[in-house]
Amino acid sequence: MKGIRKISPYVPGEQPNYPDMIKINTNENAYPPSPRVLELLAGFGKSVDLRRYSSLDQGNLRSALSHKYGLKPDNFIVGNGSDEILAFAFLSFFNSSEPVLFPDITYGFYKVWCDLFKIPFEEIALAEDFSISLEDYARPNGGIIIANPNAPTSLYHSADAMKDFLVEHSDSIVIVDEAYVNFGGVSLAPLVNDFDNLVVIHTLSKSESLAGLRVGYAVANPALIEVLGAVKSSFNPYSVDSLAEKLATIAVEDAGYYEAINFNIIKTREEFRASLAELGFETLESKTNFVLTTHPQYDMNALFESLQKDHIFVRHFDKPERLNNYLRITIGTDEEMQKVIENIKKTIS
Ligand SMILES: Cc1ncc(COP(=O)(O)O)c(C=O)c1O
Repeated sequence: MKGIRKISPYVPGEQPNYPDMIKINTNENAYPPSPRVLELLAGFGKSVDLRRYSSLDQGNLRSALSHKYGLKPDNFIVGNGSDEILAFAFLSFFNSSEPVLFPDITYGFYKVWCDLFKIPFEEIALAEDFSISLEDYARPNGGIIIANPNAPTSLYHSADAMKDFLVEHSDSIVIVDEAYVNFGGVSLAPLVNDFDNLVVIHTLSKSESLAGLRVGYAVANPALIEVLGAVKSSFNPYSVDSLAEKLATIAVEDAGYYEAINFNIIKTREEFRASLAELGFETLESKTNFVLTTHPQYDMNALFESLQKDHIFVRHFDKPERLNNYLRITIGTDEEMQKVIENIKKTIS
């Protein structure tokens, strides 16, 4: 039949639900949202009037974000998860006949949005060591998107390297997806008024333990935020619901709690990397809440399947080929990661 769209969608990690499982396959936070968030959630009946539409501008949340970063509320726009804000950013800023550039191994959704929105793109190969070769982006382009730290590699470029990159590409919009930056990186968000080509994307799904709430935001100079706002209002002006805005605002204000739990995750991550090394695994450096690991003597798909039988869910990618003997493992609690190590030992012994 004519006119029907064919599309290869993004394939998210599975969402199994067993009472005894260790779910470390989709980079969710190991710890619960802050007690203040949970308290507000418990008392919601009175505080939100669901007869009313949600706010159009998320003024309270944007004000909390502006205090967090020392910027103005008009440097921010909020969406239904960073996936939505990223999709709006692609529509807003990638409208050239030149290809949008991004790494060949990165967040799988970038390619899907290019296909969906018919945006030309070119994937730039990662270096041998899986790092992003920033120098390879010096070519004609219709914009650039970099996840920093990158997923699923977990590797990170310093803020100084990224600043040089922004200067070098001052004629292109550069979107920096900082979904994992709070696990050891430094955000570029405070620099948005210095670089009129910079759009920083954040999510509350990872470092704020709120993947199920669906809140993400973009930070940029007000002129770019206005364009994003026009695209958002052309699609779904009420995409952030009233409950989500209230809970997200408390989470942003409760920064101390999140610093503490994310500090724990970083500590557990380094201990887990050391335990893997003792078993002969080779694990990339990580500035995220996950690691990418392989073993020169073992088949990672077989290990993936064996862990899964014991209800330990990690992520294995069949494609691209360079990744198919790696596992991406989200960092859970200390107790969970000890069980994972015991299980891996049992499997490979
Ligand atoms: C690099 C990266 N960006 C964006 C997202 C989307 O996050 P969310 O839509 O939950 O905000 C993810 C989720 O895994 C991610 O890994």
